[in-house]
Amino acid sequence: MTTKSVAGRTAVVTGGSGGIGSAIVRALAAAGTTVVVVDADERAGALAAEVGGHAITTDLTDAAAPQRVVDDVIATTGSLDVLVNGAGVQVRTTAVDIAAGDWDRLLAVNLTAAYRLTQAAVKPLAAARGSIVNIVSLSADRAVAGIVPYGATKAALQQLTKGLAVELGPMGVRVNAVAPGYVTTPMTEPVLEKPGFRDRVLSRIPLGRLADGTDIADVVTFLVSDAARYVTGAVLPVDGGYSIT
Ligand SMILES: NC(=O)c1ccc[n+]([C@@H]2O[C@H](COP(=O)([O-])OP(=O)(O)OC[C@H]3O[C@@H](n4cnc5c(N)ncnc54)[C@H](O)[C@@H]3O)[C@@H](O)[C@H]2O)c1
Repeated sequence: MTTKSVAGRTAVVTGGSGGIGSAIVRALAAAGTTVVVVDADERAGALAAEVGGHAITTDLTDAAAPQRVVDDVIATTGSLDVLVNGAGVQVRTTAVDIAAGDWDRLLAVNLTAAYRLTQAAVKPLAAARGSIVNIVSLSADRAVAGIVPYGATKAALQQLTKGLAVELGPMGVRVNAVAPGYVTTPMTEPVLEKPGFRDRVLSRIPLGRLADGTDIADVVTFLVSDAARYVTGAVLPVDGGYSIT
């Protein structure tokens, strides 16, 4: 059901070289989508080659990058049906102690880049009656000490998701979000290695394990597929039940 209904589309996945992003790239490609891997990390090229897609290596905080990405995608593939805003950074510090540059970087990557890319992509997405998925976090709704500024950027992206769903729905563009819990990736590995942290997290997860990227990727694939054709403005927790404990 979900796999057939995304075949033949073109998807842009930002943060596509990362732990979650690379799983999304592979899942969409396996479902027959042409994937454009967008990331600041040069591993994007190898992954694109592996899945028969395209790579754009760029820093999305460069104000000109989002329009350049969309122009490149249209020039290369002729359409843009799916935008997954997965690029993100996390800074672990208390809210009052965060360095000004870190605060600015969190906002620039986690919120502004997703917003600018959406702005640049709206016309082709509307032409394709396509959809957007933003990767938020359970820390958008829960106050998690040590990542409060990160949570604030994710809360803003979550609200942007809902607002855009209202404004873009009449154009035929759906906008949803997934909110992962704890996924083992380069972003979380350092904190998961701290004594006791992993066990404390696991004790709160009804399904009894951390996620891997494929757990998130399968839900993203569903949300961008025709199976989710009447779903917009949704924020879907993909956290093994963490957020309800
Ligand atoms: N890992 C988790 O437990 C978890 C939980 C909730 C939400 N998330 C979110 O999921 C998304 C993916 O996270 P991940 O865990 O895979 O982390 P990751 O660090 O493995 O991947 C993030 C990717 O974003 C890219 N990126 C960062 N800044 C960029 C920039 N300026 N321009 C272009 N690319 C940039 C990085 O190069 C990296 O490939 C992020 O938005 C993160 O906030 C992760």
